[in-house]
Amino acid sequence: MKHVVVLTGAGISAESGLGTFRDKGGLWARYDPMTLATPEAFARDPALVQAFYDARRRNLLDAAPNAAHAALVRLDKELADRGGRLTLVTQNVDDLHERAGSRSVLHMHGELLKARCLACRAVSPWRADITPVDRCPVCGVGGLRPHVVWFGEMPLGMDAIEAALADADLFVAIGTSGSVYPAAGFVAAARRHGARTCELNLEPSDTAGLFEERHHGPATAVVPTWVEATLAG
Ligand code: APR
Repeated sequence: MKHVVVLTGAGISAESGLGTFRDKGGLWARYDPMTLATPEAFARDPALVQAFYDARRRNLLDAAPNAAHAALVRLDKELADRGGRLTLVTQNVDDLHERAGSRSVLHMHGELLKARCLACRAVSPWRADITPVDRCPVCGVGGLRPHVVWFGEMPLGMDAIEAALADADLFVAIGTSGSVYPAAGFVAAARRHGARTCELNLEPSDTAGLFEERHHGPATAVVPTWVEATLAG
């Protein structure tokens, strides 16, 4: 098994205290995404949108990676020791993979601890709330928005992701509902290229039927067990 491509979603960070989106009590169960996570919403009411992401950013700064994040760091290292490699793609805007020790993470929906300039589009590290008086650290002119991909916007890094899916021996989806495209289409793309497929999730996702192998339960239990079995295999 040379090349493993892992896709993670909000479920992998749930046990670190970061809410998911579509579960009971999830963010989109409590708030309307069309008033908080679209470019139109930001144009209409930037203060409301900034306040939403400010609260999530503060929550993230208090959170810590869990055993599922750590297990992927182990998989990455041991695959590399055996001449293989791991491509880690995440839909999450948190930095828990990096804080667990993951070396290269493809954040297809952006990163909460970064801000993007509305004028020059430069992306800068940003850990504080974003206020109307803040200016871009690069051009000094533009105001700032969270560096996250909103509904209706193009995901990031799609060329690298598609190249990885085309080269994968094994595709694994962890903690994602499989309800948002293009990520929900990765399993079909990986299969088209001959990869084996595996789902690790609390419960069957919307695309569960497309996976050859499925293990359901909390990520902090299922992911370390699966990594152990995979490395022993
Ligand atoms: N362990 C494993 N899986 C879990 C856990 C857990 N502790 N808790 C919840 N899950 C699973 C749920 O069963 C669900 O299938 O995680 C999934 C979370 O699904 P969503 O809330 O839809 O999150 P995600 O799939 O990451 O959303 C995709 O939608 O809102 C946009 O941009 C946002 O990146 C996000 C995208």
